[in-house]
Amino acid sequence: MKLLTHIGLGIGVILLSSCEPDEKELTSENDLPFPIEIPAGFPAMEVPNDNPITRGRVALGKELFFDPILSKDRSISCGSCHQPEFSFTDQEALSLGVEDRIGERNSPQLANVAFKPLFFKDGGIPTLELQVLAPFDNHLELDLNVVDAVNRLMNDAYYTKRFQEVFDENPSAFGLTRAIAAYERTLISGNSRFDRYFYQNEDVLNDAELRGLELFRSDELKCNSCHSGVFFTNFQYENVGLELNYVDSGRARITLDPADAGKFEVPTLRNIAVTQPYMFDGRFETLEEVIDFFASGGLEHPNKSELMQPFSISEEEKADLIAFLETLTDESFLNDPSHRP
Ligand code: HEC
Ligand code: HEC
Repeated sequence: MKLLTHIGLGIGVILLSSCEPDEKELTSENDLPFPIEIPAGFPAMEVPNDNPITRGRVALGKELFFDPILSKDRSISCGSCHQPEFSFTDQEALSLGVEDRIGERNSPQLANVAFKPLFFKDGGIPTLELQVLAPFDNHLELDLNVVDAVNRLMNDAYYTKRFQEVFDENPSAFGLTRAIAAYERTLISGNSRFDRYFYQNEDVLNDAELRGLELFRSDELKCNSCHSGVFFTNFQYENVGLELNYVDSGRARITLDPADAGKFEVPTLRNIAVTQPYMFDGRFETLEEVIDFFASGGLEHPNKSELMQPFSISEEEKADLIAFLETLTDESFLNDPSHRP
């Protein structure tokens, strides 16, 4: 008899807890891992221990990324300079910050940013979490001290609730940087026509595109000596001879080594057809101008890479090379509604 009662009670408890929506269950929804699909050919993603990619962090990070509440005059957000349809660039030579103040460099794309070893064109920032802080204190970007930004979120009933749901605490710089970085790690682009050809063995490239690929890899052009591997970059810093005297000294800003003057990170070429204008200062409008520059071999700066040698290229070959670069566009990434607010 006693035993039976106990069993009866036990079952009752189980039924109760599985039927009634209680608060704990809602919280744990936020803690579930966000589904990440690593495309064929990509390396594994390294994720810091203190920032698991959870559904809650990604959703909150996305809201913050596109919310102008984080700029001094509430006019711009991260998403103003990093727009999804342009692979998270902004089509400006130099990005415009609050009050249209002109920035110092061209806005880089954020596709596959999770796989980068260092951040910024000079490699001056070691983690994605730390990077989030940079635009705040920058007078030319958000121009809002991060302490003031957090206070703004604290005074906002909606964000106080959201940070409680996701981090179990009030808005903080810790939560702000973790959420945005978690969102950025979901920006994975590996579904271009080139990927389908190269990694999935589908016969999707036409003759012009295949000729362009051969040119890209050729000993004469040597594009893939620097733009190598699955991300089309070796993540090195190189001087390509854009200037004889660089006002922006690039990598040397961080290392203070004159041998690094004028060296900038070799950028990825994925989605390159939609990220114009090009180079660290957005000096070239079109891919054709970029190719003409490489064909010239660059100016004779003492730090210029030895791989930079002039080559000749016909108009038809140039068209083929551009056709190949266009196969690196990943339409499904650029149009993915889940990346948008
Ligand atoms: C005013 C335009 C502007 C705003 C606003 C802005 N960025 Fe950027 N972002 C840039 C520029 C320009 C760079 C390149 C800086 C450099 O290389 O020195 C950059 C670099 C980055 C990078 C490094 C990418 C790489 O390849 O190394 C990340 C990540 C990034 N921004 C994320 C953000 C986030 C998150 C925010 C909001 C908190 C934000 N940005 C706000 C213009 C902007
Ligand atoms: C010595 C290494 C090296 C070689 C060889 C090289 N590149 Fe680059 N490439 C770079 C660097 C470094 C930059 C960035 C320069 C800057 O930011 O100002 C760049 C920039 C670019 C850009 C603009 C990217 C952007 O986001 O602004 C394109 C397009 C490009 N290269 C294509 C090519 C092609 C095509 C070839 C072959 C003809 C080639 N590169 C050869 C190092 C190289």
